[in-house]
Amino acid sequence: MVAARIIVNGRETPLAPAAPHTTVLDFLRERGLTGTKEGCAEGECGACSVLVARPGVKKPTDWVAVNACLIPAAALDGQEIVTSEGLATAGEPGSRPVLHPVQEEMAVRGGSQCGYCTPGFVCSMAAEYYRPDRCAHQDPADGADAEHGPNGFDLHALSGNLCRCTGYRPIRDAAFAVGAPADGDPLAQRREQAPPAPVATAYTRGDSAFLRRSTLADTLRLLEERPGAVVVAGSTDWGVEVNIRSRRADCVVAVDRLPELRELRVASDHIEIGAALTLTEIERRLDGAVPLLAELFPQFASRLIRNSATLGGNLGTGSPIGDSPPVLLALDASVVLAGPDGEREVPLSGYFTGYRQSVRRPGELIRAVRVPLPLSPVTAFHKIAKRRFDDISSVAVAFALDIEDGIVRTARIGLGGVAATPVRARATEAALEGEPWAAQTVEAAAVVLRGEGTPMDDHRASSLYRSAMLGQSLLKLYARTTEAVSS
Ligand SMILES: Cc1cc2nc3c(=O)[nH]c(=O)nc-3n(C[C@H](O)[C@H](O)[C@H](O)COP(=O)(O)OP(=O)(O)OC[C@H]3O[C@@H](n4cnc5c(N)ncnc54)[C@H](O)[C@@H]3O)c2cc1C
Ligand code: FES
Ligand code: FES
Repeated sequence: MVAARIIVNGRETPLAPAAPHTTVLDFLRERGLTGTKEGCAEGECGACSVLVARPGVKKPTDWVAVNACLIPAAALDGQEIVTSEGLATAGEPGSRPVLHPVQEEMAVRGGSQCGYCTPGFVCSMAAEYYRPDRCAHQDPADGADAEHGPNGFDLHALSGNLCRCTGYRPIRDAAFAVGAPADGDPLAQRREQAPPAPVATAYTRGDSAFLRRSTLADTLRLLEERPGAVVVAGSTDWGVEVNIRSRRADCVVAVDRLPELRELRVASDHIEIGAALTLTEIERRLDGAVPLLAELFPQFASRLIRNSATLGGNLGTGSPIGDSPPVLLALDASVVLAGPDGEREVPLSGYFTGYRQSVRRPGELIRAVRVPLPLSPVTAFHKIAKRRFDDISSVAVAFALDIEDGIVRTARIGLGGVAATPVRARATEAALEGEPWAAQTVEAAAVVLRGEGTPMDDHRASSLYRSAMLGQSLLKLYARTTEAVSS
């Protein structure tokens, strides 16, 4: 087996002597690449953003920006990354390096003051600069709004980056001013070839190890041999545990590149979504085919987090405030579990058994999530949080209704943040089914919805507020559907 290494700015860089839990951020800084900064070490600020070459959606390779503070360096064994230092190119001998177009725009438009956040902004901005389907509008007013530039730049690409001193207007100016990559731009050309293939990794230092197998069967065998191992996919939850709670594992087993967990298949009666696809990959590959998921993704963390986070990880934590479970409950999804004795499919409504507990047995992995077809036509996802983007839910509500001839034929409502597990709002569903979709029924059902679950008081919200938001959520859905009919 080749010694573990990462290709950093085109140069092979051995992983040793980094510990298996060392993050990409520390790995880079310890090698003198101090452009990559630590702001929060928990995925909130984007100062650590770097670019990774990943399998592309529209081209063989996408340059994807990720939080270097959350990902173990060992997880990128054999992979290719570019830091802010690698974006600029060497100039003539004796002269300064030539800035990358996004660096140039940030400089000339005053997008940087103290500069602490700037390398992170520049990497996130570069990822959007190289997004293959970003294109300038013929008419600058066409498709441009407060969040999308005339050059097709989607400001949500920067939703995971914080700046304390410049203010965001000059940064937005820079983002909206970048053009298309020039002919011969090396990173644009790099997109035409496949990214490095995943490699099996056995990286051990002292008593701890980071292991990656190439197939699901080998990984399941490994989990039998190492029953105490921690499974990681995108590491957006695990990375916080390591950095903030100082958790260490003797053995970490990576599943994020397993081909069996990275398929997206559309069959006649269901869509199967691989548990290790990132949320960005699912969002771009489904391209709106499941409107409820399309509504979820922009409200789930930031683009930086979604570039690593997986559905398997969101269900794997068993958190009662994860955002995908309410949506998947409303979609009537099931979870495909793979273990040493084969596969089994469990309805998500029967998956969670208690606070952060599930029917998943030791040694089993979530292989995929299945969403049955056809989809219910009336759907909505309401996430109530303190900030509009990049925040954890106080309460989350997802609806999927079939309404025919003004009668609610079926109703499925998934709730997060109101009990020890994500739950279906069964009483409210019963109050709606078979009834007219009319103000009187909806108002009565909203009262029932307010009483669902056992919401608690905590620093995010009071139980009263959570209950009130549940009821409001149904009223809001009703208002939206009736506005659509009358307009
Ligand atoms: C700044 C920030 C913002 C966030 N915002 C949100 C948000 O808005 N909404 C939200 O819901 N979450 C949010 N999260 C939490 C996190 O991003 C999600 O839970 C994410 O989906 C986890 O996926 P991952 O692949 O990174 O999981 P990892 O960290 O790799 O793993 C998480 C857990 O799942 C298990 N696991 C992973 N894959 C599998 C598998 N295939 N089978 C079995 N077990 C598995 C792991 O063992 C581990 O216990 C946020 C996190 C951060 C740091
Ligand atoms: S250091 Fe803040 S997101 Fe990584
Ligand atoms: S320029 Fe100082 S934090 Fe952004």
